[in-house]
Amino acid sequence: MKKIKIGLLGCGTVGQGVYKLINLNKTKYVSLLEGTELEIIKILVNDIKKERKDIPLSLLTLDPYEIINNKEIDVVIEVIGGTTNAEKYITEAIKNGKHIITANKDLMATKGQNILELGNKYAKLVKYEASVAGAIPIISTIKENLVSNQITKVMGIINGTTNFILTKMFTEGKSLENVLKEAQDLGYAESDPTSDVEGLDAARKIAILASIAFNRRVTLSDVYVEGITKISVDDINYAKQFKSTIKLLGIAILKDNAIEVRVYPTLLPLSHPLAKVDNEYNAVYLEGNAFGDLTLIGKGAGGLPTASAVVADLLNIAEKINKGIIEVNNCSCYLDLEIKKIEDTCSHFYFRMVVVDKTRVLSRIADIFADNDVSIDSVIQKKLPDGKAELVILTDRVLNKDMRCARKQIENLDVVLEIKSVLNSEKEY
Ligand code: NAP
Ligand code: HSE
Repeated sequence: MKKIKIGLLGCGTVGQGVYKLINLNKTKYVSLLEGTELEIIKILVNDIKKERKDIPLSLLTLDPYEIINNKEIDVVIEVIGGTTNAEKYITEAIKNGKHIITANKDLMATKGQNILELGNKYAKLVKYEASVAGAIPIISTIKENLVSNQITKVMGIINGTTNFILTKMFTEGKSLENVLKEAQDLGYAESDPTSDVEGLDAARKIAILASIAFNRRVTLSDVYVEGITKISVDDINYAKQFKSTIKLLGIAILKDNAIEVRVYPTLLPLSHPLAKVDNEYNAVYLEGNAFGDLTLIGKGAGGLPTASAVVADLLNIAEKINKGIIEVNNCSCYLDLEIKKIEDTCSHFYFRMVVVDKTRVLSRIADIFADNDVSIDSVIQKKLPDGKAELVILTDRVLNKDMRCARKQIENLDVVLEIKSVLNSEKEY
């Protein structure tokens, strides 16, 4: 039987998922590939002695060059994570004639262009569907199925850990700290979960999606990022009063030949398709000039869901190897569009502040908003003990830099004791 031989770099959550899936659907894959079998022949790990259910010890190695220099291996799957070793091993593997599959958004959002171009140079395919939104086939959907459109907006819940945390805060009133441990135990979080809760993981993914959607290379440093660490159950309860929820969104917009790209916790009306996406589920909402809008929902993390995307890339490459036709065009970024600064973008805003509970406070705040062209949509006021009150204000859609000026002036008012939070709100979509 003809075989396509695979080297697996990494055997953690995703690596074990890939091994399991290739065996689970072996019969289907053999018939899809007209008799060719997929076989993992070597697996790189850090610690051979770790418990790994169903993985034969004989496949494990501590030496990456048993894979990179192995002449039998056609495809290298990188699921070790991180950037330094992953970049080194992928680069060397391409130069040694291997096709590459990676789930590594850290790497693709920072060094993606170099890797894709190196693949082009050596006529080797580089596929990375699993790097964004786990099981959701979002990269191939944008690149292939929706290629007839001009995409104008990509808005996604693209981090399972933070969606899990925000869902538990919304439904069970639990605090962020309490739920993060649960998300880690379930295998959703990154090895360093600060990249989940501080929004970096989502920023890497939206950089990748913006690059593909707008044919303009967007890297991590182009993305404005705020995480969820400052979100409290109080904010979530106020959001409910505005018939909204709070989700960490990655947003990329193409407007007037310029790109906006950002990640932040956002008040989202409960009627929006993304508002109903809970727990570790991811979803990507797209707008385009022919399809209108569409939303893809699925599991964004975990072994088998992520393996689903990795193995789909593998089958795609295997089919090409089988047919002997390898047309390599890894990179589709050929435009040079401006990327807007966050200050020059528009949004609705949510302000929550503690003020002195006396007359004229609200009117002084409203005056500052008006002086800065920030129009108010609605207000909630709640009495607090000790002569204080909590004010929650939703603005209309305003320029970010106007909101920032207003915020500075409001902060300096003697009657404003503390600005508790300022969040973006996606009231219109
Ligand atoms: P993980 O559970 O931490 O597994 C990493 C694996 O790589 C482990 O087997 C580890 O070996 C091995 N490894 C790491 N560095 C190594 C090195 N320098 N040399 C040799 N072996 C090394 O990570 P994961 O969750 O599977 O994630 C892997 C990649 O997929 C990351 O890029 C991640 O961002 C991405 N991803 C993950 C998910 C998810 O749901 N987890 C979803 C989508 C994408 P030991 O087992 O010996 O420690
Ligand atoms: N830590 C990531 C998440 C894993 O929570 O979505 C999937 O990329």
